[in-house]
Amino acid sequence: MASSGVLENPTRNKTLFIKTYGCQMNAYDSDKMAKLLEPLGFILGNNASNADLIILNTCHIREKATEKVFSELGRLRKLKMEGFKNGRNVLLAVAGCVAQAEGSEIITRAPYVDLVFGPQTYHRLPNMVMEATNSRQKSEVNGAGIIDTDFPVETKFDYLPTDTTSSTSAFLSIQEGCDKFCSFCVVPYTRGTEASRPVEQILHESINLIKAGAKELVLLGQNVNAYHGLSKSGKEWSLSRLIRELAEIDGLARIRYTTSHPKDMDHELIMAHAEVPQLMPYLHLPIQTGSDRMLKAMNRKHDVAFYVKIIEKLRAARPDIALSSDFIVGHPGETDNDFADTIRLIMEIGYSQAYSFKYSPRPGTPASNLEQLSDATKSDRLQTLQQLLNEQQFSFNMQCINTSQKVLVERRRDRDGRLTGRTPFMQNVSFDGPIRLLGELIDINVEQATEKSLFGRVAIKEQCSGHLIMNKNYSEGRKHA
Ligand code: 5AD
Ligand code: SF4
Repeated sequence: MASSGVLENPTRNKTLFIKTYGCQMNAYDSDKMAKLLEPLGFILGNNASNADLIILNTCHIREKATEKVFSELGRLRKLKMEGFKNGRNVLLAVAGCVAQAEGSEIITRAPYVDLVFGPQTYHRLPNMVMEATNSRQKSEVNGAGIIDTDFPVETKFDYLPTDTTSSTSAFLSIQEGCDKFCSFCVVPYTRGTEASRPVEQILHESINLIKAGAKELVLLGQNVNAYHGLSKSGKEWSLSRLIRELAEIDGLARIRYTTSHPKDMDHELIMAHAEVPQLMPYLHLPIQTGSDRMLKAMNRKHDVAFYVKIIEKLRAARPDIALSSDFIVGHPGETDNDFADTIRLIMEIGYSQAYSFKYSPRPGTPASNLEQLSDATKSDRLQTLQQLLNEQQFSFNMQCINTSQKVLVERRRDRDGRLTGRTPFMQNVSFDGPIRLLGELIDINVEQATEKSLFGRVAIKEQCSGHLIMNKNYSEGRKHA
């Protein structure tokens, strides 16, 4: 039976379960949601079945995202019904880009959902949850039906809690949204137009993360190299300026940033790759296609020659830089020749890894109204492209065998108890070692490689009075060391 109208103790311990889809930005948002809800007594768990609040933090970028969310909601409905029968008000929330895009349609199709909120309003989550808790589930099939998909005037970053716990490698959102309006992409519609966080806020959060144990910061933004946040003096800082400032913070060993647009890859940022030792020699710089015709159709605002020039400059600045990209095959209008151009570009550049997708029409985007290619054509092209990218990734990994790589040790794998971390070039490495190495920057002798990972052994540098001493060199070392 549903319980009566008595208000719950808002600080009683309750369990929160968040299922996160999509990008690192969503992972960052999910972390923040969990922290926002701590004062209400919510403890993050890893099981939906005993949770008091279940949040689906959704992604809308590709494929049948909306349908996937509705089928997941269908499964969760059973948990909510069971809770209702036992007098428990299990709250069900849909967050993220599907929530932003679908809004009230979610409540219409799934009336048992309690909360629907977008990426720009989750700082209001505690209030929404209090309201939903106190409003009580109205019937077996009706949730609280609270919807907040505003693009509010206040910025959520002014309301989000700062971190007091952290992982070795921490995400830090510095920029959000996008003004580029690529023909295929929903981001400008779901995340809104481009906005940069103020410098002071970012420095403050960075220092907190580092104090809490982070050795690496991954600066996040949908269009991160378009960053132009206001500094204390009222001047706008570029991403390279911000990176140089972060590099001054004691204890920060590594800096990365993602995702970038070629048009915003300015000279200073390229030079930062040469001059800032903490900036890792790896860059995810999507081009999407190797055909000028398709770049135009995609409204990418540059041609292939422009991209190749940037890569040349980056390699001149930092000869060992490893490169990654996103590719879309089967965008409307893509011919065999266009696809052949993409293959040629991949062979010319040589990627250490890359992501590739079949074009999927996103409602409301310009390309979704154009004539679509057959799924068979898209699948064929994707297979050819991925085979080439996998070969490149494998040979890049193979080149590392018998080399020593600096690895930031991030976690212990449950599966086999081995430690894992990343090389400067973003490769995953696993090896046996004591737990005390977690959070350390150590040398690993690479012994084996697969397409996706490296395997190695902790390098033993010295022998001293009968004890083996691990090399504990905390600094990343100078460029090209
Ligand atoms: N179809 C396929 N892939 C897409 N991406 C974005 N929108 C679509 C779409 N409609 C890919 C792009 C982008 C990455 C994050 O997702 O390659 O860079
Ligand atoms: Fe989407 Fe990236 Fe294009 Fe912006 S630049 S519209 S985020 S693909």
